[in-house]
Amino acid sequence: MAEGQSGGSRFFGPSDRHLLGIQGMHPSRIEPILDLAESYVLMNRSRKTPRDLLRGRTIINLFFEDSTRTRTSFELAGKRLGADVVNMSVAQSSVNKGETLLDTAATLNAMRTDLLVVRHAQSGAPALLAQKVDASVINAGDGTHEHPTQALLDALTIRRHLGRIEGLTVAICGDVAHSRVARSNIHLLTSMACRVRVVGPPTLVPRSLASLGVEVHHRMEDGLRDVDVVMMLRLQRERMSGGLVPSAREYFRFYGLDRRRLELAKPGALVMHPGPMNRGVEIDSQIADSDQSVIREQVEMGVAVRMAVLDLLSRSKRSSRS
Ligand code: NCD
Repeated sequence: MAEGQSGGSRFFGPSDRHLLGIQGMHPSRIEPILDLAESYVLMNRSRKTPRDLLRGRTIINLFFEDSTRTRTSFELAGKRLGADVVNMSVAQSSVNKGETLLDTAATLNAMRTDLLVVRHAQSGAPALLAQKVDASVINAGDGTHEHPTQALLDALTIRRHLGRIEGLTVAICGDVAHSRVARSNIHLLTSMACRVRVVGPPTLVPRSLASLGVEVHHRMEDGLRDVDVVMMLRLQRERMSGGLVPSAREYFRFYGLDRRRLELAKPGALVMHPGPMNRGVEIDSQIADSDQSVIREQVEMGVAVRMAVLDLLSRSKRSSRS
């Protein structure tokens, strides 16, 4: 489809065959991805996607960590563009980091994979794979490092609702220290001239985060005042060593998003969450389901953004071959 195919190799040139992170990505490269994703939103809604675009291409979803929405949406995205999509889930217990990863890389290379979507508990694992395989590598979340397609889908959701990204004030609340979603969003939003606040207890939101160009707050009542967007994060207990938080009940009392706290934000402020949500821990169930919540739409945008990224990366691969 013409709409989905115009001029993409500009965005990911032959030198950037991979999407490993948002850090260092200029807004002039982010906006066109969002524009292309926008066209895929419309195609998805009318069920008219270019099913021949990636015909004959092989995408492998290589997930060393659990995932529901990210893996499913990459699978749908690939299939809606006509690619052959294979899901490989590797049980965490069988992973012997470096060695297994490089063995896996050699195997996948031998299978002539075109696009490799990788999630791994170790920060930097997708970048290591990218050095070893011929395929284009997309980082679907590595440790506490980055989750670039999540930040892109969040940006698309914000832009569709508020008409712009530049100049907005965004509060990212909760377990920022362990969150690759937060890190990718901080890079994207600060590069697009947003004012970003991170909000949470000092154990999860250390002062050192200020070096990323964000304001650090330890009270929701300060951090939420007059924001345009509230992004809530899950408590990632699986990445915590030791008791960084009190009980879930007490956490909610101090850092949960409820109606009273949301009223401090601008009227109509967007409520976002990358999922999976812990209702009653970081977010009140009613707020998650309220009119201000765009959480379900984030999931829809996830498919469109991943279609755009697969489309653009497969084009840049084509041009680097010729
Ligand atoms: C996030 C992740 O895995 O980084 N989820 C997602 O991709 N939507 C956040 C989380 O696990 O809390």
